Amino acid sequence: MKLNDEFSVNIEKISNLGYGIARIDGFVIFVAGACTGDTVKIKISKINKNYGFATVVDIINSSPYRIKPFCSLHNVCGACQFQFIDYDYQLKVKRQIVQDALYQAGICDIEIQPVIPSPQIKEFRHKIQYPVSQTRVSKRFLAGYYKTSSHEIVNIKHCPIQPAICDEIIEFIRQKAQLAGISGYNEENHSGELRHIIIRISSFNGQCLVVPVVNSEKVSDKLKNLCFEIYKKFDEVCGVCVNFNTQKTNVITGKTTQCICGNDFVEEKILNKVFKIGADTFFQVNPKSAENIFSYVKNYIQNNFDKPYILDAYAGITAFGTVLSDVCEKVVSVEENPKSCRLAKDIINANNINNIEINNRDASEFFKREKRKFDLIILDPPRKGCERKGLDEVIRLCKNKIIYVSCNPSTLARDLKYLREKGCKIESVQPFDMFCHTYHIENAAIISCPLS
Ligand SMILES: C[S@@+](CC[C@H](N)C(=O)[O-])C[C@H]1O[C@@H](n2cnc3c(N)ncnc32)[C@H](O)[C@@H]1O
Repeated sequence: MKLNDEFSVNIEKISNLGYGIARIDGFVIFVAGACTGDTVKIKISKINKNYGFATVVDIINSSPYRIKPFCSLHNVCGACQFQFIDYDYQLKVKRQIVQDALYQAGICDIEIQPVIPSPQIKEFRHKIQYPVSQTRVSKRFLAGYYKTSSHEIVNIKHCPIQPAICDEIIEFIRQKAQLAGISGYNEENHSGELRHIIIRISSFNGQCLVVPVVNSEKVSDKLKNLCFEIYKKFDEVCGVCVNFNTQKTNVITGKTTQCICGNDFVEEKILNKVFKIGADTFFQVNPKSAENIFSYVKNYIQNNFDKPYILDAYAGITAFGTVLSDVCEKVVSVEENPKSCRLAKDIINANNINNIEINNRDASEFFKREKRKFDLIILDPPRKGCERKGLDEVIRLCKNKIIYVSCNPSTLARDLKYLREKGCKIESVQPFDMFCHTYHIENAAIISCPLS
């Protein structure tokens, strides 16, 4: 087998990264844009020692799960790998991805629950982050998601997975930035000013926080004027903040943000609690699906505990703590981002909550020094999961249950395996579809601790 060779293959299933899996004489090929049940003609695009990659040249027999994608850019844009797959089948694939991750970690006796769907499968995404660049000759601004496996920007004029107002704001920025003579970022030589546009939109009141990310340490007059123009033009825009990122990196935001006009947050309402979400503080991109997770955890607590003492770890703006405060004796939260902790304090005050303690610390360090014991510990770490030494301390601190919320099935499986080795029992794993039309999936695992 060599590059560009063509074969006809059957697609057996979909991999954890969203590729169709086929075999040629036992050799595994990952096929982009293919679905279980397809018979497709493929062209080999890359060969590694144990597996290869291919693209679809022709569909010979179509999978029963194929549908017409609703976005005209689906074939070029890398944001939604699964839009050509029927939504119910997407959910089955995601459940299998979680099941396989646990299986690979040696956890073979837990049946993953069916995925709880996203309440919306269009316009569900309430945070957008578009990279920006500029054409060399005509100086047109390009803004949109990258093409699959590349850093080539698809200049998106309409994206149906996010509220339509985003299209209008982005188009306004494209036009005005060019007229104002602002320069767009050039990734190759790390030059140019405007490198990303972030918009956070509230699903509660439709307000938008717009955040241009710039490759400089201060705001130029041209950019400042653009910020005021955006703020003036759109009633929905409640604030414009500039984030400074001069690093040559794929990380989107830098450490500092300056509010140029209006507010430096949008308000979101989840389970009757009002939240403030800032330019560089974490909040789930799909608030309606996030509400399902918060309800699930709250119901679990109401059905199994009487006013527990809980630890909300990797707390962000203390979203779990805030929605759970009514059903808990006390919530202790720990989060390393100082801006999230500052917003958490405002949120607690605005919601008249007086049983939450905020700790702005590294979680593992906090666990190590903590002496109190907790009835329930919520762990919601970033994609890389928890540190082993952190999990050891969590077991020491936990009197009854851990609820581990994760956006990465493989690190969740690794950490569940470790917790099990240390005497914990995995009771259930419930997936939630937060990221429709992608292979990503959020999970909440309920775990009994040895002391329970
Ligand atoms: C997936 S988010 C969860 C946030 C929150 N639970 C929510 O539902 O909105 C992970 C959070 O962990 C924080 N974080 C990352 N590493 C951390 C660490 N070592 N110690 C404490 N917090 C950390 C991040 O700043 C982020 O707010």
